[in-house]
Amino acid sequence: IMGGPSDDSLTGVHVVVTAGGTREPLDPVRFLGNRSSGKQGYAVAEVAARRGAKVTLISSSTLPAPAGVEVVPVETALELREQVLAIDADVVVMAAAVADFRPAAVSDTKIKKTHDPADPDAAPSVALVRNPDILAELVQRRGEATRPVLVGFAAETGDADGDVLTHARAKLERKGCDLLVANEVGDGLTFGQDESTVHLLRRGEAQVTTIGPAPKTVVATALWDAVIPLVKTL
Ligand code: CTP
Ligand code: CA
Repeated sequence: IMGGPSDDSLTGVHVVVTAGGTREPLDPVRFLGNRSSGKQGYAVAEVAARRGAKVTLISSSTLPAPAGVEVVPVETALELREQVLAIDADVVVMAAAVADFRPAAVSDTKIKKTHDPADPDAAPSVALVRNPDILAELVQRRGEATRPVLVGFAAETGDADGDVLTHARAKLERKGCDLLVANEVGDGLTFGQDESTVHLLRRGEAQVTTIGPAPKTVVATALWDAVIPLVKTL
C-alpha cells in the first residue's frame, strides 16, 4: 500500500493517533485526570502528516492542531474508544493516557462541600469502575491479521518488581501490540516536557532502541522509522 516516492514516505497510509490524558467526569465541574500533556502524540501526528499520511488525531488535549491533521476532540476513555473503533486505519498509535478507571456515577449536579446534612464535615468517597482497555481490544479485534499496525505507549517507573525495561517488555507481551514506546517517568521526566527518553521495543525481538533525552519530534521520527517496515508488509 506504500505509494510514496521515498523509503520513509507514508503516502496512502491512514494513521490514527490518540493523544492527551482522558478526563473522567465526577460532576458538571470536576473530573479525574492525569498529567499527560498530549505533546508526544501531537508530535507523532505531525511527523506522520509531514511524511504524507492521512492523519486522524483523536485527542483529549487542547494543543493546536498540527498542519494537515484532522483532530477529533474527545474527553473520556469511552468517547476515545468509540472514535478509535469507528476508523478502519492502517496504523493506530495509542499515545493517549487513557484513564484506567472512571467514577462509577456522574452527578448531574455539582457535588456540594456539605453533601450529607447529618454529618456536615464528612467527605464523600468516590467509587471507581474499570475503563475498557482500548489497545487490548484493537489487538483482539485484529486477531491473526497484521493490519492495523498497533503501537502502544507505556509510562513506566522502575520499582521493586523490576526496572523500566523489564516492565515494558512484560507489557508489550501482555498487550500483544507490534511496538511499545516506553517512557521513563517520575521526577519531572516526560510529562509536559519537550524532551523525553524512550525505549522502542518490538514484539518478538529482544533488541531495544533507546532515544533521548531528545525532543518529542525526534522520538516521533524514530517511531515512524520503526513502524514503516511493518506498514510495507501490509
Ligand atoms: N491503554 C488503552 N486503554 C486503557 C488503558 C491504556 O488503550 N484503558 C493504552 C494506552 O494508550 C497505551 C497502552 O495501553 O498505549 C499502555 O498503557 P498503560 O497505562 O501503560 O498500560 P496498562 O495496561 O493500563 O498498565 P498500568 O497498570 O501500568 O497502567
Ligand atoms: Ca494504565
